[in-house]
Amino acid sequence: MKEDRRLPHKRDGFQVLKTKTAYVIFIVLTYAFGYFSAYYSRQPLQQQQPPSPAAVRDVKTTKPQVCSIDNFRVTTRCGNLVPPESIRQTVIDRIFNGTSPYTDFPPPHAEKFLRPKRIKGWGSYGAVFENIIRRVKPKTIVEIGSFLGASAIHMANLTRRLGLEETQILCVDDFRGWPGFRDRFKDMALVNGDVLLMYQFMQNVVNSNFSGSILPVPFSTGSALEKLCEWGVTADLVEIDAGHDFNSAWADINRSVRILRPGGVIFGHDYFTAADNRGVRRAVNLFAEINRLKVKTDGQHWVIDSVK
Ligand SMILES: *[C@@H]1O[C@H](CO)[C@@H](O)[C@H](O)[C@H]1NC(C)=O
Ligand SMILES: *[C@@H]1O[C@H](CO)[C@@H](O)[C@H](O)[C@H]1NC(C)=O
Ligand SMILES: *[C@@H]1O[C@H](CO)[C@@H](O)[C@H](O)[C@H]1NC(C)=O
Ligand SMILES: *[C@@H]1O[C@H](CO)[C@@H](O)[C@H](O)[C@H]1NC(C)=O
Repeated sequence: MKEDRRLPHKRDGFQVLKTKTAYVIFIVLTYAFGYFSAYYSRQPLQQQQPPSPAAVRDVKTTKPQVCSIDNFRVTTRCGNLVPPESIRQTVIDRIFNGTSPYTDFPPPHAEKFLRPKRIKGWGSYGAVFENIIRRVKPKTIVEIGSFLGASAIHMANLTRRLGLEETQILCVDDFRGWPGFRDRFKDMALVNGDVLLMYQFMQNVVNSNFSGSILPVPFSTGSALEKLCEWGVTADLVEIDAGHDFNSAWADINRSVRILRPGGVIFGHDYFTAADNRGVRRAVNLFAEINRLKVKTDGQHWVIDSVK
């Protein structure tokens, strides 16, 4: 009985010893592995600059190991500047084959699906719009993310009231809403998969009598901003109100800055929203930090002055 009782104790002790040893070996191995893998992944980066022709050949034949930051480069030069008074026609020529999209609007096939005015915005009537437009007196405004046009129409109304008759507002949006947006906008038509958002946006603009000041630029924000830059279209004011996730907000800000005139102002919505883990705020703050700029807030909006 005694032996029987002691035996399990002995075995326990032995097992504990075995487990401890295994544990120590495991820790040492993990550490060594981590150390060497970090060492080897650092090596190529150090050898990378400047790459020798031999290294360039190697990249083609072997698996790429290096993520060069140079891969993040973007076009940095925009086309020759289009004067503000020619911007509307430039956009009409380049995108709409020379004819205003409002000509003969609405098309018969869409007319029955449109409401005289169907508007919904978030933060579209904040004082920030009047504060900035009074200060900047913009000739050209580019809005990134327009949806049904609430803030664009508000800005057009403001420019009119402030005597800025010539101001043009370019509204960049793919006019698709976002996946699932019809859960909240059930009344909006779906015609063979098309949500007719651009037509309803245009209908809202026409209804407000601002079709002479507001143009849709119906493409994704990335491709539209690239092209505006290439065409030499610049803005005094850019308003960012599209994707809330960090990557979208970051790319929208980065690309918008390239079409901003010197001394221009860039601002946007959702600085305080918790959506997408505060992606907008992270992007804005990082951008300001990298470029040594100051972020101000006005209501729900962030504002960065004089980016270049
Ligand atoms: C935009 O991004 C590019 C490439 O990622 C970077 O080189 C550039 O400095 C950024 N521009 C600004 C104004 O932060
Ligand atoms: C574009 O404009 C040209 C010149 O006005 C015209 O001949 C052509 O038919 C138009 N194309 C389309 C697709 O409307
Ligand atoms: C323009 O602003 C005025 C004054 O705030 C307002 O009464 C009017 O409804 C606005 N018009 C549009 C089309 O938003
Ligand atoms: C737009 O213009 C029409 C015709 O002049 C006018 O009846 C209507 O009230 C205007 N709408 C707005 C929102 O100002």
